[in-house]
Amino acid sequence: MITSISVAVKDLKGKVLLEPHQDISDWARKTVFTSDYQKKKTKFKESSQLLDDISLIFKKEPYKTILEKWAPNFREWLGEIWAPSIVFDELKAQRLRDPYGYAHTLTIAVVGSRLLELWVTAAPTVKRSFVGLLLHDLGKTRVGSAILDKPGELDSLERQAIHEHPLVGFALNSAYWGDSNHLCAQVALHHHEDRTGGGYPRKIKTNSLILDILAIVDRFDALISERPFRYKKHTVREAFDILKKDTDDGRYEPDVLKALIALVRREKISDRKKMKLGTIGRPPKAT
Ligand SMILES: [Fe+2]
Ligand SMILES: [Fe+2]
Repeated sequence: MITSISVAVKDLKGKVLLEPHQDISDWARKTVFTSDYQKKKTKFKESSQLLDDISLIFKKEPYKTILEKWAPNFREWLGEIWAPSIVFDELKAQRLRDPYGYAHTLTIAVVGSRLLELWVTAAPTVKRSFVGLLLHDLGKTRVGSAILDKPGELDSLERQAIHEHPLVGFALNSAYWGDSNHLCAQVALHHHEDRTGGGYPRKIKTNSLILDILAIVDRFDALISERPFRYKKHTVREAFDILKKDTDDGRYEPDVLKALIALVRREKISDRKKMKLGTIGRPPKAT
C-alpha cells in the first residue's frame, strides 16, 4: 500500500504542493485549499487546439463506429464547460512531451463519456465526468519520459514512480480545483484501484461506474495502441479476448465490457442492467 510520494509534487510553475513522504490523507485533511488556481479559468471552446485534437479521435479506428452518433455537436457540448486555465496548460505541455499519453487521455475521455451515457442521461453529470476522465492521468505528466518510454522491464524505483502517479494526480487536481473531494481529484486517486481491492496505490475496493468504464477503456486502448518498446499491438479481437478473460476473473464490470464490444461491433445492446454511478461521480449535494 502506497500512501505517500517519494518526490515533491509541484505545480506547472514549480510551486511545491506536497512535500516528499507526506501521508496523502493527512495532507488532504490539513491543507486549506484555496481558489487561487481558479482565478484564471478557460472554457473548452477557447482551446481550439484541444477541440481539434479531440475531433481526431472521432476519426480513429475502431472508435469511429462508436463515436459516430455521439455528440455530433461535441464542440458546443463541451464548449461552455470550464476548467482552471492551468489545467489546459498542463495538457498543452503533455501534448509536447508525451504525445502518446496525451492522445490516450483524450481517447479515454471521449469513449468513456460515450459509454457512460448508456447509463447516465443527465448531461451535466456526463460533462463533469468527461473532465474527470480527461484529467485521470495528470500524475503521469510528472513521470519522466525515460520511464514512460523505457524498453523492457522497469526496475523497482521506476515501478514505484508509476505506482505513485495516482497520488500525484490527486495532489495536482486537488490543488487546481481547490477541493480534494472534487470528482477530478477522486478519479485520479482511484483510477488504478478496482472493485476487488487488487489495484494500486492503496488497494481499496471501489464502487464507481465511472471507474469501471475508465478501467476497461483504458486497458482496451492500451492493448490496441502501438507502444513500440513496451508490448506488441493487439488486434481488436485479441484485446476483447484478453478483457473477457480478466472480466471472468472479476477484474472488470461485465456489463461495461459487453457494451463496449456491442458498440464496436455495431450490435444492439440488449438487456443492459441498470447501474448507478456509485460513490465516485455522484453529483454534489445541493446546498
Ligand atoms: Fe494511470
Ligand atoms: Fe490511463
